[in-house]
Amino acid sequence: MPCKLRNSSFLLPTLDDLDERYGLRGSKVLLRIDINSPIDPETGEILDDARIRAHAVTVRELLERGAGVAILSHQGRPGEPDFVTLARHAELLAKHVGAPIDFVDDVIGPEARRRIERLGPGEAVLLDNTRLMSEEIIEAKPERHAKSLFVQRLAPVADYYVNDAFATSHRSQPSIVGFPLVMPSAVGRVMEKELRALARLYSGEERPRVFVLGGGKVHDTLRILEHLHANKAADRVLTAGLVAELFMVAKGMDIGEANRRILESKGIMALVPRARRLLLRGLPLETPVDFVTLVGDEVRIEPVGSITGIIRDIGPQTVKMYSEIMREARLIVLRGPAGVVEDPRFREGSRRLVKAAVESNAFVIIGGGHLNAIVSELGLSDRENLHISTGGGALLLFLAGEELPGLTALRISAEKYFPSLKLGPQTE
Ligand code: 3PG
Repeated sequence: MPCKLRNSSFLLPTLDDLDERYGLRGSKVLLRIDINSPIDPETGEILDDARIRAHAVTVRELLERGAGVAILSHQGRPGEPDFVTLARHAELLAKHVGAPIDFVDDVIGPEARRRIERLGPGEAVLLDNTRLMSEEIIEAKPERHAKSLFVQRLAPVADYYVNDAFATSHRSQPSIVGFPLVMPSAVGRVMEKELRALARLYSGEERPRVFVLGGGKVHDTLRILEHLHANKAADRVLTAGLVAELFMVAKGMDIGEANRRILESKGIMALVPRARRLLLRGLPLETPVDFVTLVGDEVRIEPVGSITGIIRDIGPQTVKMYSEIMREARLIVLRGPAGVVEDPRFREGSRRLVKAAVESNAFVIIGGGHLNAIVSELGLSDRENLHISTGGGALLLFLAGEELPGLTALRISAEKYFPSLKLGPQTE
């Protein structure tokens, strides 16, 4: 069954469609997954392998269908401590797939191409971090990326492309948008499951819709807020973490000198005018009333107005206020932790927000690795009102009604390579 999308007028081919029309046995597949995982900055170890586990399903199925599979993923961003090679990912992926997966210390060079050419049916390799290639950092239209060296080098040694990386499909990068234009392409099982769940659960009618946004990706979150506001997709936005600090500065509130300096060092102060513009345009956004802070080695709870320490988590009054707002919601979307959750002293805010959301009457969509780990830790994973998404930024842009570039490219591809898949307004 091709994959239908709500609020959209296209069908995307799945692995079944690809196999039926073109045949997977004996073919070579470029499979883009997203196994970007939290990494311990000290040891380089992978802290949570949930994404690796999830994508094992697609890899296994392609191998069972007799394809040779060359797997692509990014990890971190150049210059960040989590920008590492994928050698360890390959070991974990092999473990979860239950088949050998060789790591190839190359992305688009001769070694990578030789290894792909030599792949037999049911064999897989994982190429190295796609972001080792400078083209992969550039955001451009699918048509341009279809002509990138990345695509020119790898497309000739494979037959098909499968995009299983829902969580990266908001990035218009070659490994996401370039290949579909030049070869028959399909969605993988993780992407398919995500799209089907979101189409079923999210009609856009659920009001009020509350978005709880934390985490460290402030530039991305601001962009997402601009989309959410432009599309009137959020009735209430509850902020935590650095996003909250940005909006507090934009509102003229005092966050303490040390925290201002941190915002400055991360380039976040430059975003204040954009944040202010959103507030002036009426974005219904709340900021915390208290924080858990660190003063030297001492953990304190400090109300807004007299913050002296470094902000590490939201405080109990904020949790209470946010939980009350969530009680009224019909849909709650949580993305990003409320504090520095790697440290158990600053995990409580996120734990209590997740618990309050799941115990409300709302349907809850949770995105991003850290919160997923908290859901499992609290034993809430099986709740019926909960969808745990693999996506963070991609999820929010999707919910804001934006067409993700990765899906756009697959749509263009389907029109070219699957003309028999009927395109038409979705009625499901
Ligand atoms: C994510 O974790 O949201 C995806 O892997 C995308 O990562 P990026 O924000 O570095 O593009």
